Amino acid sequence: MSRTRVLLVGAAGETGGSIANGLLENPIFEVYALVRPRSVQKPAIVSLQERGVQVRRCDLRGSEESLAEALTDIDIVISCVGPAEQQDQIPLAKAAKKAGVKRFVPCGFITVAPPGGIMWLRDEKETVYNHIKQLWLPYTIVDVGWWYQLSYPRLESGRADYAMTTANNEIVGDGNTRTALTDLRDIGRYIARIIVDDRTLNRMVFAYDTVLTQNQIYDMLEEISEEKVQRNYIPEETVYTRVLAARQSSETYPFDPVKFIPRYLAEYQLSWGIRGDNNPEYAKYLGYLDAKELYPDFRPTDFRQYLETVVRGTAKGIYTDRTISRAQQREFPRTESSDSLYTRIFPRAESSDSLYMSR
Ligand SMILES: NC(=O)c1ccc[n+]([C@@H]2O[C@H](COP(=O)([O-])OP(=O)(O)OC[C@H]3O[C@@H](n4cnc5c(N)ncnc54)[C@H](OP(=O)(O)O)[C@@H]3O)[C@@H](O)[C@H]2O)c1
Repeated sequence: MSRTRVLLVGAAGETGGSIANGLLENPIFEVYALVRPRSVQKPAIVSLQERGVQVRRCDLRGSEESLAEALTDIDIVISCVGPAEQQDQIPLAKAAKKAGVKRFVPCGFITVAPPGGIMWLRDEKETVYNHIKQLWLPYTIVDVGWWYQLSYPRLESGRADYAMTTANNEIVGDGNTRTALTDLRDIGRYIARIIVDDRTLNRMVFAYDTVLTQNQIYDMLEEISEEKVQRNYIPEETVYTRVLAARQSSETYPFDPVKFIPRYLAEYQLSWGIRGDNNPEYAKYLGYLDAKELYPDFRPTDFRQYLETVVRGTAKGIYTDRTISRAQQREFPRTESSDSLYTRIFPRAESSDSLYMSR
């Protein structure tokens, strides 16, 4: 039987790395990675090649011909680009339509939220979804809730710092809003099932592991670590004020991370923390299929077990290959002393590349 040829965009990134692992676990997939020329030598890409991934050199911002070449004989395209690069998927979708790609998985992979003015990042993605639909390109949109890896607060002892991108020391509202969570490593395992499932064609899928409140996460971390974690509750009004301030200062393009990142972080807090958008019930209302119903035998990584590895010092950190300059950290509005760790979450936009320093 012929194998399904899957082209992954962003294979060196966090989501892309998880998806590459998920696909490589299943021999029915022949895995290709679209990699921009400057990144071909990245250790993550070299290692994927050693595991059988075939690299197609191409920049999403490159020529139509180079995109057509990268898509030759590809059955499924999966895109995992960063927040600043969402619109770069539009030429990719056009090329995929021309090349006869059978399924296009655009870069969703965020929390559940309604389109149209709640979250800038969601709306960036929705613009791409609309283009896909205008092309009549077969698609599947997958959202995953909040990564386990970004969900827990810093421990005063510093024991968890090695695995974190941010101090993450704010509880939104009263901390009792339920929010869906997924281990980053499970995204690829879900995707390997979703992309070969006829039921998910031209549908949105919500693939999540568990649902918890912030208070429950704090309780669990305190229990496991035997450390008290200070609870810093951020009132609803503060979130609204942040959202308004960040929106006012980020009305113009081109993408400027100094303005947009505070905006999408504040809007995340508004959506999952205050509005309570990120849960399976609301996802269903918005029209998502629920991966738990599609794949009842899927075994998600247990959140408590994941936290135990964090406290033990054996969890894998995320975004460990990037940091940004101290100057950038100083400019970042949510700073306080807490957030020298904030930084690795920043996307690698062209405009922000100069801000990055490797460690
Ligand atoms: N649910 C959550 O909790 C959560 C958390 C974080 C992110 N996300 C979502 O996940 C998505 C992916 O984020 P991430 O943090 O996993 O991404 P990431 O680690 O920043 O990786 C992005 C990848 O896109 C590639 N890329 C960017 N521009 C490209 C271009 N012009 N041509 C070819 N490749 C290009 C990059 O290639 P290079 O290797 O060449 O730089 C990189 O491999 C985001 O859109 C975000 O919304 C969700």
